[in-house]
Amino acid sequence: MGSQVLVAYATKYGATAEIAERIGQVLRQAGLGVDVLPAERVGDVRAYKAVVLGSAVYIGQWRKQAAAFLRANEQALAERPVWLFSSGPTGEGDPVKLVQGWRLPTKLQPIADRIRPRDIVVFQGSANVQKMNFLEKWMLKNVKAPAGDFRDWDGITAWAAAIATALKEAGLT
Ligand SMILES: Cc1cc2nc3c(=O)[nH]c(=O)nc-3n(C[C@H](O)[C@H](O)[C@H](O)COP(=O)(O)O)c2cc1C
Repeated sequence: MGSQVLVAYATKYGATAEIAERIGQVLRQAGLGVDVLPAERVGDVRAYKAVVLGSAVYIGQWRKQAAAFLRANEQALAERPVWLFSSGPTGEGDPVKLVQGWRLPTKLQPIADRIRPRDIVVFQGSANVQKMNFLEKWMLKNVKAPAGDFRDWDGITAWAAAIATALKEAGLT
């Protein structure tokens, strides 16, 4: 039997991939079969009973691979329990406050409305200036976002644990 849960992600510099890996790890520890894959490498979404999808945020947008995945699989996703996350803001404090209430790119909201995800969350991200090009460094300064790794591993773990509980209650294990 294949995996039950898909954790798909889109990343530029790896911070979101590591968040996806952590989510996958928590789900596996809960006894679920999990595939953690870059969104562009996912085969048939219909093979999975539940989907977690996450993307890094750049200038208010999801990475195109995550947006394309959401669009291409709308119907299959609407028929399954789905959880969405973004990896974005850097800085201390409530990530939703840091992005002034932003939850999802406006363009993707209508699709999300039809899919009706179980939850949509924003996690703090990691901005690694060593990996960024000149333009990205300048843009980050311009929006006054601090560089550094602000990922909230406890928050990510707790969110994944809640997904595991919901899936177990749904009789997926
Ligand atoms: C040029 C640039 C623009 C960014 N724009 C946003 C943004 O609009 N909103 C946000 O929350 N984070 C923004 N970020 C922060 C990144 O989303 C964050 O660093 C993320 O964790 C990177 O993930 P990745 O390593 O998977 O690519 C931006 C970062 C850079 C370098």
